[in-house]
Amino acid sequence: MSDKNNKSKITPEEANLQKIISHAKEYGFVFPSSEIYDGLQAVYDYAQNGVELKNNLKNVWWKAMTMLHENIVGIDAAIFMHPTTWKASGHIDSFNDPMVDNKDSKKRYRADVLIENRAEEIRKENKEDSEEVAQNLLNKMGSLLTAENMEGLRNLLIEEKITCPISKTSNWTDVRQFNLMFSTQMGAVAEESETIYLRPETAQGIFVNFLNVQKSGRGTSMKIPFGIAQIGKAFRNEIVARQFIFRMREFEQMEMQYFVRPNDQKEHFDYWKAKRHKFLLAIGIPAEKLRFHDHEKLAFYADAATDIEFEFPFGFKELEGIHSRTDYDLKQHQIHSKKKLQFFDEELKENYVPFVVETSIGADRLFLATMCNAYTEDIGKDANGEERLRAYLKLHPALAPIKVAIFPLVKKDGLPEKAREVFELLRYDFNAIYEERGSIGKNYTRQDMLGTPFCVTIDHQTLEDGMVTIRHRDTTAQERVAISDVNAKIAEAVSIKRILEKL
Ligand code: GAP
Repeated sequence: MSDKNNKSKITPEEANLQKIISHAKEYGFVFPSSEIYDGLQAVYDYAQNGVELKNNLKNVWWKAMTMLHENIVGIDAAIFMHPTTWKASGHIDSFNDPMVDNKDSKKRYRADVLIENRAEEIRKENKEDSEEVAQNLLNKMGSLLTAENMEGLRNLLIEEKITCPISKTSNWTDVRQFNLMFSTQMGAVAEESETIYLRPETAQGIFVNFLNVQKSGRGTSMKIPFGIAQIGKAFRNEIVARQFIFRMREFEQMEMQYFVRPNDQKEHFDYWKAKRHKFLLAIGIPAEKLRFHDHEKLAFYADAATDIEFEFPFGFKELEGIHSRTDYDLKQHQIHSKKKLQFFDEELKENYVPFVVETSIGADRLFLATMCNAYTEDIGKDANGEERLRAYLKLHPALAPIKVAIFPLVKKDGLPEKAREVFELLRYDFNAIYEERGSIGKNYTRQDMLGTPFCVTIDHQTLEDGMVTIRHRDTTAQERVAISDVNAKIAEAVSIKRILEKL
């Protein structure tokens, strides 16, 4: 099929995502991994600006958890864990997705995703009974998944006339369970080596450290309720990974496990639902782009679960999960390790295995949501004050990769030297850049595309009155500010405190 034909088939949603992907590459946010070898599917590298944005997102999440909660501490557990961890957690036996291939296109899909998409289509038909029909379909699928009835799932694909988007046929193979964990060998000698796994979630590193943290505490030992937060890589051999960094095979999670008294979990679950929603609003995501999706079909160990969904260019999809996991994980680790994982509650004078409420968000998914939300096209003023259509990244200033860019108006008359002086004043506090090439207009446009909230221009007048022009990204408004005031002005706007104080 020619490129031209391909392009004509792109939906507006795909075009919007494509815009973000192109922007991410062109402006140094995200590159496909090992691109010179044509890339590695569903693996990406964060580039010079992407890594700054991602670090800022991780930093604000970390601080929101550990600095704003006296009873939450952070850890950084190893990716490799004792293999029994994954037996205990259930991942070896049941961390599977139902996989199906279309015999005509040879494309691979997740059977449950094909059925979910069909339910979404039914909903969009907006008939009187659409909601009910879609729900029935999802319920049917849920029962088949619980019963691990793969034949039933295949029959459902055929009954529902679900076709492959490429070949448009229902010529499906059998549906098979596919374990998503990557494994490798530890140990130099083949006969003595042991199969170990790349962790598919960071949570288990927290569960196995529960007592270590509780006892060593934060100054003194931790009392229930308390939380352990962690940011780290996770790996899943995803069957279908097509939506840029939405679903990756190597990704990063930001998880927090909150240990509570048995029977108190509902109260904490509601608290964290509201708290995490507030966090997303505070970093600049508007309420209308977020919604909760409560799970009707719960994992057997959970007694409540909800997703916070974000409206990505391809629709509302899970951004973060909040799960009430009962005492399942700690009890499983007790059984498999034969070590007690209990807490003695001084007030109740009772020993118990705590219940857990977890919040789990992908750093990459949050990055994608932030980029999609920030990408803006509207009318603004160029360097000459002329109105024109422009694109920019409307990032919260505290998240922007570069906080301030400094330019001399011309590359002569002592302006570069003065501009460098200003740069020296700022670079110790902010991620600042100095640029003397190109026109001011082009430099503004480029910084807009990177989301830089402030540009500082040094002109001939600066040499006389010590004032510079600060140009604001979102409004394109310009103001004259004394050099001695620039630092404080920027510091006020880009401080992470602007986000934290809203929580
Ligand atoms: N410990 C619970 C847990 O791992 P999950 O719903 O499987 O729950 C939590 O994952 C979050 O991790 C998701 O909401 C998503 O943001 C992120 N995530 C999961 N799989 C991912 C993938 N393949 N690529 C990128 N992010 C992923």
